[in-house]
Amino acid sequence: MHRIQRDGTPQVRMEFEGETLLAHQGDTVAAALLAGNHWNFRTTPVSGAARGPFCMMGVCFECLVEIDGVANRQACMTEVRDGMRVKRQQGANDTAGNVFSDAEQDTGQ
Ligand code: FES
Repeated sequence: MHRIQRDGTPQVRMEFEGETLLAHQGDTVAAALLAGNHWNFRTTPVSGAARGPFCMMGVCFECLVEIDGVANRQACMTEVRDGMRVKRQQGANDTAGNVFSDAEQDTGQ
């Protein structure tokens, strides 16, 4: 992958699934993860299939990740921050980070 050089732009250090990544200040989390060759941002609630960003403009919600313990954050709409900890989102979570089972999702509970 070709990475655009931006001399002079401050870098930030972040973590994805325990791996330390360097990003440029002003990058989105999605851009930083893609630049680090990470394409699997979340898994689907039913089949567990891998998903990654599609629109990169806040519309498709395929880029949901957990950031600093908060689930359902759109990686394409969130700027990187020094010390940020990002995790792959597994299935569907409520805003408190609780993982729903398939049965709970079917009934909306
Ligand atoms: S990539 Fe579509 S909402 Fe983030």
